[in-house]
Amino acid sequence: MSKMMPGKPAVASAPVRGFGPAGNPLWYVSRDADVRKVLTCPFASSDPSRPGFPEPEDLDARTPFLIELDASDHARLRRLVLPEFTAHAISRLHPKLQRSADQLIAAMCAAGPDADFAEAFAKPMASQAICHLLAVPITDGPLLTGIATTLADDSQGPQAQGAAFLAVTEYMEKFIDHRIADPGSDLFSRLATAPLNDGKVTRDELVALAIMLLMAGHDTNAKMIVLGVGTLLDHPDVVARIVTDEAAAQAAVEELLRLHSIGDDDGFRVATADMEVGGITIRPGEGIVPLVRHANYDHAVYARPDCMDIDLKENRHLAFGTGPHLCLGRELARAVQMIAYRTLFSAIPSLRRTSIDPENLQITGWASS
Ligand code: HEM
Repeated sequence: MSKMMPGKPAVASAPVRGFGPAGNPLWYVSRDADVRKVLTCPFASSDPSRPGFPEPEDLDARTPFLIELDASDHARLRRLVLPEFTAHAISRLHPKLQRSADQLIAAMCAAGPDADFAEAFAKPMASQAICHLLAVPITDGPLLTGIATTLADDSQGPQAQGAAFLAVTEYMEKFIDHRIADPGSDLFSRLATAPLNDGKVTRDELVALAIMLLMAGHDTNAKMIVLGVGTLLDHPDVVARIVTDEAAAQAAVEELLRLHSIGDDDGFRVATADMEVGGITIRPGEGIVPLVRHANYDHAVYARPDCMDIDLKENRHLAFGTGPHLCLGRELARAVQMIAYRTLFSAIPSLRRTSIDPENLQITGWASS
């Protein structure tokens, strides 16, 4: 148990009623038990084209992403890709992830203490992990980083985001067509042969899946590495344990995920039937915003939610969601963060930051003193 986390504590409460951009009714749900109930409820739809969805989107112009599908379509697609996302399957990527971490840290050290930590390490580490997963050349990493960063940043405006989406669609269409024409032994080569030929998946669904993996896996991991390293720099006691003890490192990864809860604005839903949540009835067509960060700081579950505690007996945080849409890439995320933290603090034991910019989630300078 050590220092308190900075910032305003998130306080979980009974569901609170609010309104969406078009005046549509919304429920903000924040207690651990209530968020779990919503995310596992079969009457909570993830389809943004349904009336009442908190951030509605017209899906006529594109193939929906996995995260936007409900029920049987969702289960069919998710089942198809699951084998490559188990902890065992991801462990086969560990040597490549380790190599990426070693090389990026060596290059960052060579560039000197003015190197921007996010640009030199966190972003390329995240993008190389996706390259390893998709089996695309890591030389395409900077291109994919640029696209993923633009897509994740609404301040770039609709024009830049539209152009980035077009670019990623063209890239992934070529990528899938290449797998169809000349399959290898990777995830999308497998999907582009039997499942495609048997009609279990369409080419457009494969393209949408590849785009989703890039978008879901890039910015999340990059942000998490920056925030995680920032927090670890304030907890030298934890750093000392994670470099020598793998179990402590695993516990630290989970605590950092809980404390930062970066997927807080994911997981919107809309009710399709009456739902009883936290003593209130959510009616069909009413939107639901599960506040994962609040749930991960719920006093009913965590005795001292603001404190980093890598000795928690059981850390059942909701940073990866839960239920049918439980983060598909969680084992990859865990592996990337674990390798990133351990390698970084082993290679540069005296790492310290020169400044952290919480707005941009960047350590803007670093130094080894
Ligand atoms: C720190 C890293 C990450 C965090 C915090 C995170 C968080 C989440 C959360 C909260 C959800 C559930 C959203 C919902 O219920 O609607 C989710 C879903 C998903 N994530 Fe992650 N994620 C991370 C990394 C990754 C990575 C590395 C990948 C893949 C390469 C990935 C792929 C996905 C996919 C495909 C889904 C949708 C699953 C489905 O709808 O069945 N994520 N993630």
